[in-house]
Amino acid sequence: MNDQHNILIIGAGLAGLYAALSLAPRPVTVLSPKPLGYGASSAWAQGGVAAAMHKNDTPEAHAVDTVNAGDGIVDADIASFVTSQAKEHVLELAEVGTPFDRTDDGGFVMSKEAAHGFARVVRVKGDQAGAAIMETLIKEVAETPSITVIEGATALELLVENNEMQGVVVSEDNTTPYVIQAKAYLLAAGGAGSLYLKTTNPPSVRGLAVGMAARAGAVIADAEFVQFHPTAMDVGIDPNPLATEALRGEGAILINKHGERYMLDVHPDAELAPRDIVARENFRQHQMGNVPMLDTREAIGEHIKDEFISVYRYCQQSGIDPVKEPIPIVPAAHYHMGGVATDKAGKSSIKGLWVSGEASSTGLHGANRLASNGLLEALVYAATAADGMIKAIKSNGGQPYVDGLKTPDIGFKYVDEDAVMELRAIMSSKVGVMRDGDGIAQALRDLRELADRHGDVSTNFDNMLAAATLIAAAAYNRKESRGGHYRTDYPDKDDSLQHRTEITYEEAIALRDRL
Ligand code: SIN
Repeated sequence: MNDQHNILIIGAGLAGLYAALSLAPRPVTVLSPKPLGYGASSAWAQGGVAAAMHKNDTPEAHAVDTVNAGDGIVDADIASFVTSQAKEHVLELAEVGTPFDRTDDGGFVMSKEAAHGFARVVRVKGDQAGAAIMETLIKEVAETPSITVIEGATALELLVENNEMQGVVVSEDNTTPYVIQAKAYLLAAGGAGSLYLKTTNPPSVRGLAVGMAARAGAVIADAEFVQFHPTAMDVGIDPNPLATEALRGEGAILINKHGERYMLDVHPDAELAPRDIVARENFRQHQMGNVPMLDTREAIGEHIKDEFISVYRYCQQSGIDPVKEPIPIVPAAHYHMGGVATDKAGKSSIKGLWVSGEASSTGLHGANRLASNGLLEALVYAATAADGMIKAIKSNGGQPYVDGLKTPDIGFKYVDEDAVMELRAIMSSKVGVMRDGDGIAQALRDLRELADRHGDVSTNFDNMLAAATLIAAAAYNRKESRGGHYRTDYPDKDDSLQHRTEITYEEAIALRDRL
């Protein structure tokens, strides 16, 4: 029996919950694969929200930094729009109780992160922003009667006919799938970091949203651009704990086992060079066996214990005392700039489907996301999509409920985690920080072989395979290096390729099958 709901939100990270609250008192249903607060990348974000809050800073300056960081392919209109909305959303979060760090005169304490021309990242207890914002919103959601949260519910497949949403196939705690129909749908189910062996994302964040939307026919944009965070901790923990960029903002430096401060020779901004440049040098140091490390001893010292609580806790768990010794680090997949292509209003190419947060590709991030613009984009586009969904329902009643819609006969078994590890190894070794055409082509062949062995058994694994195939195919097609996408066989930028890309699942599979 199909369930009929008003608005269905797939995903319960920052974008999903903020959209649900923005829609109140309109009834909405939120699918949360885990208990609220668990499994969402947002809750792990250490940096904060980028916003021009200081009287000497401006949204225009923030937009310029966003465009510059994105290495030539940021949509400047989207950057102006998002940065102009930033202050309003930070004030809204503060209003509902987010305990942002404050100055003595009641202002916001701001952190400086790489490629920002101003200290403009609002934070909570140093590195606790994501967790604190999520905690605040979860409390709000609990007190908002119009929001129904189904915990343990995972979306497996979007049902689309004639390019229009018909419903979503859902499984609760891996039980028999059923269909939920709604008048409007928001996909806010996160990024793709755990398609890689080294990642700062929760294990469940593995391309499911992008894969699911692509398999249903949605256009995917900028899939080749994966951001690798330069300083994930290399302490044998999967996922790799993040050592926030704010540490480098406070003066922490990068050294290797020979004691060399190698970034000084690489970029005039040294450790605060754009994230992709620092990530590549850290990768090179790691590959050479030079053991790159983040040294917080002189710049931060004992303060790390109370100003960077998460980082200090992870160090303790790993037997490292950052007051006395440097922290081993390695680049790790952190954020997917690509995603489901959306228009200015957050709408995908499928009628009735809006997308926000990391699952989307709005054009804000270009080839390289500016630090702490991720949470900001999630807030702005959750609110924008909420607005768009209400308008669509008011003007045309929204997507019609379809009588007699059948639940497709799809696999809902547990994903084979050995197959997942194979997939992650393929992506890491051949479509990672540094790539080349032959390696990517081999990755696509390996993914096809994996699909032959394991495809169709579990819909979620098919969604992962789809996301990985899209990333690899788009990386194969972009024969240049730009931002987070670095091709050793095409190490330079090519001006003729200074544009965003679009790809469909069909096109990615066709390329895969040609190689
Ligand atoms: C960090 O804290 O270094 C990550 C911030 C971000 O990725 O936006």
